[in-house]
Amino acid sequence: MEIVKLKLVNFRNFSKINLKFSKGLNLIVGNNGSGKTNIIEAINILALTKTFRNVYENVLIKHNEQSTTICGEVKSKIINKYQIEITKDGKKAKINNNNVERLSDYISKILVVTFSSNDLKLIKDSPSTRRKIINIIISQLNNDYIKHLNEYTKLNKQRNSFLKVLYTNKTVSLEYLDILTSKLIDSGIKVYEERKRIIDLINQKIGDYYKKITNNDQLKINYKSDYSNKTKEQLLKNYQKNLEKEIILGKTIFGIHTDDIEFFLDNNNIKDFGSEGQQKNAIISLKLCEIDLIKELKKEVPILLIDDLYSELDKNKIKNILNNLDLTMQIFITVTDLNKVSKNLRQQANILRVRDGEVK
Ligand SMILES: Nc1ncnc2c1ncn2[C@@H]1O[C@H](COP(=O)(O)OP(=O)(O)OP(=O)(O)O)[C@@H](O)[C@H]1O
Ligand SMILES: [Mg+2]
Repeated sequence: MEIVKLKLVNFRNFSKINLKFSKGLNLIVGNNGSGKTNIIEAINILALTKTFRNVYENVLIKHNEQSTTICGEVKSKIINKYQIEITKDGKKAKINNNNVERLSDYISKILVVTFSSNDLKLIKDSPSTRRKIINIIISQLNNDYIKHLNEYTKLNKQRNSFLKVLYTNKTVSLEYLDILTSKLIDSGIKVYEERKRIIDLINQKIGDYYKKITNNDQLKINYKSDYSNKTKEQLLKNYQKNLEKEIILGKTIFGIHTDDIEFFLDNNNIKDFGSEGQQKNAIISLKLCEIDLIKELKKEVPILLIDDLYSELDKNKIKNILNNLDLTMQIFITVTDLNKVSKNLRQQANILRVRDGEVK
């Protein structure tokens, strides 16, 4: 799959630009603050409707403007036109000029794998960041996943509100809570099973990729979930056991919204024992698995977005990573200094120079 054209209107520091990309490698070159990551970010939003940076969506709209539009033409078997418009009130998606009512129906059409410096730090981050990355991977592989996850999140919110009602009014019947809990478990199990299935698939590959980068193949991911190996009856008992505590706290403390993943190298949790380099390599290995899974399960080649790798990793490591990539797939790499890129790569690349909100 390949993005052929991208049009940005009032996106970050760009007023209006029209870009054309080529197959294979696209190098985005420019000084710090010129807008390189903004371009990668725009492609990422066009695909996933969300930014990979930890920011509020308002900051995506150019200063003093009311809305931003990202428009792109993406070629797989045929060319389709995609559009995301973000205003201060929300977001709208279109495919071939038709509104897409639910964003969950939009995601998973444009397949991207993003390597950003944020991701490289996620082993040290909070569990929610790691859940986010797993959600992104699975949402691109399975169209129903986001629907199940949204359903779970909605039920969890309703259950939390009702727990608060129970706290203030002890005479309210528990019947409604039981209905919510049962529904919550049903959608939670669907999310759990899909997470487990995909993490199992990743574990079949991740050691091999880690070895290609580092010469050690003993990397594994552990999926930590309250739902692990439990039947619905066992889960119901857990919710009953926690009820008193949950009423006091006014929230559900048990469930797949607390899931986490851990990375183990030679049976040691690399969050505690791993070096920074080992942590980065683990994430890169995860991303390389993601590319494989998209190819295998979706029968499509994803677009790669690689931001800031040259400032995070040394030259040899980058060479190892690029050696693992098929350079015929469309790849975007941002770089401040073109000399950091090997001559061989530079010669194959389409080079876009970014300066003061303009691209040449
Ligand atoms: N909403 C906005 N309106 C106008 N300008 C913005 C907005 N958001 C960000 N910018 C500008 O965009 C620029 C940052 O762009 P970006 O993060 O893409 O830089 P970069 O080229 O990736 O830099 P680096 O090499 O440091 O990573 C900054 O100059 C910032 O002021
Ligand atoms: Mg940047």
